[in-house]
Amino acid sequence: MVEHRSMDGWVQVEDYLSATLVHGGAGMDAVVESIDAAGMPRIEVAPTAGKLLMLLARIQGARRVLEIGTLAGYSTIWLARGLPGDGHVTTCEFLPLHADVARKNIDAAGFGAMVEIRVGAALETLPALAGGEPYDLVFIDADKGNNLEYLKWAIKLTRPGSVIVLDNVIWEGTILDPGGDPDAGAIRDALEFMGASESLDATAIQTAGSKGWDGFAIAVVR
Ligand code: SAH
Ligand code: DHB
Ligand code: MG
Repeated sequence: MVEHRSMDGWVQVEDYLSATLVHGGAGMDAVVESIDAAGMPRIEVAPTAGKLLMLLARIQGARRVLEIGTLAGYSTIWLARGLPGDGHVTTCEFLPLHADVARKNIDAAGFGAMVEIRVGAALETLPALAGGEPYDLVFIDADKGNNLEYLKWAIKLTRPGSVIVLDNVIWEGTILDPGGDPDAGAIRDALEFMGASESLDATAIQTAGSKGWDGFAIAVVR
């Protein structure tokens, strides 16, 4: 990750918004604690963004969600909370340790039957998903260098009207001048692909808070 910046007030405002609007509940705090306890990186989405994922799933009327990048299942659980009882989340995670921690958190949150974790490099596990029912929402949040490939897979595995969300598209502003940061360059390539794609209507939102200066892109598949 690039060097993190946090201006005065960003985190306090995020904490205020979380306390006032998000109501994550004790279960979500336990997921965050499990990340620290396992020595995993604290790179889960902020509570306000997690709830946004839940609301997007609801707004979309999503039943089938694909996530790339599980970590400890924090965003996975938020997404699952936005689905009806017969909903399903497929989430792809490279590291077995992360998948194990996520499995426990997802089961403890009551979504065990709804969530399938595919362990392995996503570019290896995604092809097996082709030919199934299309996904209604895809959340891409894994290794940034593969963003472009993940976007192409997301388009392949969805239908017109599906929603694609891409995390970490601002990367502390380094997208404007990637220099030697290959992740920044890959994020910029992904944004430019989204803007130029005949298959997508896209925009992006900047965020500032506990995760520094970052943001996400949102697209609807045409
Ligand atoms: N979406 C999670 C955070 C994901 S962090 C949340 O908000 O709670 C990014 C995750 O992607 C890490 O767990 C990392 O191990 C995983 N990852 C990295 N490279 C990957 C790959 N090639 N395929 C699948 N997952 C990968
Ligand atoms: C990193 C990855 C993320 O998905 C994120 O939201 C923040 C940071 C990282 O790899 O540093
Ligand atoms: Mg992220």
